[in-house]
Amino acid sequence: MPKITFLPVNQSFDVPAGERILDVAIANDVPLMHACGGFCACTTCHVLVKSGMDQLAPPEEEELDRMETLDGRTDVSRLGCQSKILGDVVVEIVNLDE
Ligand code: FES
Repeated sequence: MPKITFLPVNQSFDVPAGERILDVAIANDVPLMHACGGFCACTTCHVLVKSGMDQLAPPEEEELDRMETLDGRTDVSRLGCQSKILGDVVVEIVNLDE
């Protein structure tokens, strides 16, 4: 079963393959912002993939288009609401929902 770790809160969870990062966060009260409710319309769910980028399903067109509008985009940026977990990953939350 894949494992995801969220930084900087340092919380880890075993999840079924195919689960989306944001869904794991919501289910476990991890403070990952999601202003649009997970519909790929805001970019507040931005995460930096610290390890396991190849353990996330590749971004689809919609995510790639949305990320064009993302300030502070990096080579390891993904949108939590769109990223499906396939194996072990470590992600850093950019916008903590405090
Ligand atoms: S929650 Fe809005 S784009 Fe992911």
